[in-house]
Amino acid sequence: MGADLSANTDQRVVIRAARVGDVPALHALIRTHAERGKMILRTLDELYANIREFYVAENSMGQIVGCAAAHVFWNDLAELKCLAVHDDWQGRGIGRALCEACLSDLARLGVKQVFTLTNVPEFFEKIGYRRVDKNSLPRFIWGECIRCPTFPICNEEALVRHVPPE
Ligand SMILES: CC(C)(COP(=O)(O)OP(=O)(O)OC[C@H]1O[C@@H](n2cnc3c(N)ncnc32)[C@H](O)[C@@H]1OP(=O)(O)O)[C@@H](O)C(=O)NCCC(=O)NCCS
Repeated sequence: MGADLSANTDQRVVIRAARVGDVPALHALIRTHAERGKMILRTLDELYANIREFYVAENSMGQIVGCAAAHVFWNDLAELKCLAVHDDWQGRGIGRALCEACLSDLARLGVKQVFTLTNVPEFFEKIGYRRVDKNSLPRFIWGECIRCPTFPICNEEALVRHVPPE
């Protein structure tokens, strides 16, 4: 996947709000997983336009090794999306930490509930989400489905969790 990030033996990672300078690396990370059918490909202009929604995981060499975003739909509904961790950096709590950063941001904004559509429901169950019937979510959230690599066959599960207040 892109640059060899495994050469870095320093395991420290910082979770922080994304900046415009992160966009090329974000795009490459998302593209790798999108090409495997794991997530929707995001264009560069889309990433720049929505950069405020993103958190990134940055290693000690300044490389972006993970990302996640939270998109607000309504006062009681947001989506956790664009979650990806570089292959060489998985299994170290980075995905969890990125989701926690998004959750804190949603708490700050006063949003009460977050959902996700995913093919890794077991991961989200580990971090406090519960499975729900996809049809229980409002129809307007399906707008991006046509861009999914598996469309029109949906292999994703819907999960939700409460956003604890700040
Ligand atoms: C899913 C993904 C983000 C997880 O990131 P990660 O940094 O490896 O996950 P973490 O190390 O934070 O794992 C947190 C917990 O979830 C578990 N977990 C991680 N991936 C899992 C999976 N695919 N299935 C079940 N459990 C999983 C871990 O074992 C850990 O459990 P523990 O707390 O009991 O030790 C990462 O595997 C990834 O980028 N996958 C490809 C892209 C993708 O599918 N994104 C989701 C699209 S919605």
